Amino acid sequence: MKITIIGTGYVGLVSGACFADVGNTVMCLDVDVRKIDMLNSGGIPIHEPGLDAVVKRNADAGRLLFSTSYDEAVAHADVIFLAVGTPPDEDGSADLTHILSAARSIGQRMSRPLVLVDKSTVPVGTASRVRAAVEDELRQRGVTVEFAVISNPEFLKEGAAIEDFMRPDRIVIGSDSARATAMMRELYAPFNRNHEKLVEMDIRSAELTKYAANAMLATRISFMNEVANLAELLGADIEAIRMGMGMDPRIGPHFLYAGMGYGGSCFPKDVKALVKTAAEHDYPLHLLHATEKVNNAQKNVLYTKLCRFYGGVDNLRGKTIALWGLSFKPNTDDMREAPSLVLIRGLFAAGAKVIAYDPVAAEEAMRMLVAEHGAAACDAQLTLVKSARAALAGADALVLVTEWKEFRAPDFSHLAATLRDKAVFDGRNIYQPGTVAAAGLHYEGIGRTSRAAA
Ligand SMILES: NC(=O)c1ccc[n+]([C@@H]2O[C@H](COP(=O)([O-])OP(=O)(O)OC[C@H]3O[C@@H](n4cnc5c(N)ncnc54)[C@H](O)[C@@H]3O)[C@@H](O)[C@H]2O)c1
Repeated sequence: MKITIIGTGYVGLVSGACFADVGNTVMCLDVDVRKIDMLNSGGIPIHEPGLDAVVKRNADAGRLLFSTSYDEAVAHADVIFLAVGTPPDEDGSADLTHILSAARSIGQRMSRPLVLVDKSTVPVGTASRVRAAVEDELRQRGVTVEFAVISNPEFLKEGAAIEDFMRPDRIVIGSDSARATAMMRELYAPFNRNHEKLVEMDIRSAELTKYAANAMLATRISFMNEVANLAELLGADIEAIRMGMGMDPRIGPHFLYAGMGYGGSCFPKDVKALVKTAAEHDYPLHLLHATEKVNNAQKNVLYTKLCRFYGGVDNLRGKTIALWGLSFKPNTDDMREAPSLVLIRGLFAAGAKVIAYDPVAAEEAMRMLVAEHGAAACDAQLTLVKSARAALAGADALVLVTEWKEFRAPDFSHLAATLRDKAVFDGRNIYQPGTVAAAGLHYEGIGRTSRAAA
């Protein structure tokens, strides 16, 4: 099949590369000229494990093309996926500017029957708005062209996106067109071989399924974070509790980790957008309001622990805090809504210095921090280094922010010899409190007790 993907970000590039890998001819379009130039000269604009090999293989075979030209991209395809960003608007609703602008660009050019597929995460009713935008453009041109607009939300996870796309746990198709559904079945057949994973439903249900899934996952995280904070007060250990809970098959072991709060480009914005959609229908989502409130507080938990450890915020002034990890989770360079940004905000305000290492997100982190705090503040208070060890030089305490594999088994005696205040704050509970304490270090995790350390 000939496919065009509009929006060549985390979702668009991965989808395009994977569709090409099973034999389709895919054109990825983006309005970001820098991104397309980079892809056309063999570069990859994002960090996603395994993506470079799939892109290279298919670009070399001539099945994966990159363009900034809507003329070229619309003429290329029978199926066009919309995978542009849907960032939060100021009021929390999903900003549909990009998706509606892409729809209009298609309507201005299409000249043969097309299936348009919303892959971006969009509020219920967006497919109708995309249809209306295309129809309006066709009307202005005085032409009639048959087309369908359907919904196919994406469930891939950054950091495991290729694997998720190649072996999805479900393929949701919301459609009111038998022809479009049949095309989706054909297109997804190579990813749907082992057992049936394709779920057909109406468009509005498909649009809501994506938000409901992300809202559930975000709520699970906030729930565990609340239990962790309570466990700390009660002298219980969240890691033991997590195991005990996860063995119940009705609960399951996944996504029960306490930490520094959820971040990234999806959960925060999707929770906000669903809350907003419900409010527009005079139906307040109390549970999701609480999920968001708990999450915002959780992003400050480590900062609060640092203040307490130093006997008050004033004593943080002049301290140098080492951070291991900056991205919102491992295996990605995505810094959107990363908890590290909230921690750094607190440390900067307290007059502390930050020395940080992240295997891939340093450049993006610096870009965002300079935009937020200014170059002068970053020059004065932030040093980005190229290794975990280098981050310890001159540091008073260490905060584990992102659980990249390379941070999992450090030499604790080296930490004890290097960190001036001999303190480790573990934002992801990846260390055994007893092991850290045995090296002569003060240890604090999330929802763990000193009793657990004993
Ligand atoms: N990132 C994820 O893990 C993930 C997972 C599932 C779903 N989603 C959803 O998929 C959508 C895309 O997310 P992403 O993370 O890939 O975003 P992204 O920001 O990485 O990429 C979006 C791309 O769209 C381009 N773009 C914007 N307007 C355009 C236009 N009019 N024409 C062509 N290109 C345009 C941007 O330049 C950018 O490169 C969002 O709705 C998101 O919620 C994301």
